[in-house]
Amino acid sequence: MSSTPSFNAEEHQKMLRSYFNGNGFSRWASIYGNDKLSTVRSTVRQGHAVMMDQAFAWLESLNLPKGATILDAGCGTGLFSIRLAKNGYRVKSVDIASQMVEKSRQEAEKNGVAHMIDFEVNTIEEVQGHYDAVVCFDVLIHYPAEGFVHAFENLASLTKSPIIFTYAPYNRILAFQHWLGGYFPKKERRTTIQMIRDNQMDEAMHKSGMSIKKRQKISFGFYHTMLMQAERG
Ligand SMILES: C[S@@+](CC[C@H](N)C(=O)[O-])C[C@H]1O[C@@H](n2cnc3c(N)ncnc32)[C@H](O)[C@@H]1O
Repeated sequence: MSSTPSFNAEEHQKMLRSYFNGNGFSRWASIYGNDKLSTVRSTVRQGHAVMMDQAFAWLESLNLPKGATILDAGCGTGLFSIRLAKNGYRVKSVDIASQMVEKSRQEAEKNGVAHMIDFEVNTIEEVQGHYDAVVCFDVLIHYPAEGFVHAFENLASLTKSPIIFTYAPYNRILAFQHWLGGYFPKKERRTTIQMIRDNQMDEAMHKSGMSIKKRQKISFGFYHTMLMQAERG
């Protein structure tokens, strides 16, 4: 595959941890919260909500028993974890940024579901355990192919059931715009979105013993993502 020779996993994690405990925390906590937003960010909030509704519908269609345990890898402020807990699932909520985990915990307490959720500051590459399903939304978009494959292998090893996740498929026009300096207006810019080519996705599936069963493009204003469901075999 065309790997990223300069990719340094440790440095990459350090950069993400620092961003999501700093500017990234304020930025995403306001997008995922109720603050008044600019038009650009407001489309991101709405697009994210559309993605979460679709992902939740896919998860429910698995007919897992209530009390099944779901890993929310890169849980952010806990939006999906709390939704899962409110619907009777047990949840393991993991995030690289302690500020995100703390915010998740506070939100879960406010919503009366903290007892259904086990919180942990950890990474998608290192988290352990066994879960009935894994979800990972808008996290892998921050990983170039080499890191993506490695992180996906770990997530796949934690479940016999599906992984529902999002990623950014390679797109020639967006790649050009990124090269020009980012497709977000300057003041709205966030961490770089890493695009994954089809052959790199195939490699991630092959290495993890999974294959793609469902895919749905979600596009809403400035929010673009590909929602995927991968299953073993
Ligand atoms: C854009 S937010 C998405 C949050 C949440 N999944 C959602 O969709 O509401 C990305 C999150 O991934 C977390 N993250 C980034 N890299 C991570 C890693 N290697 N392991 C765990 N979490 C990570 C960030 O701290 C941040 O909370």
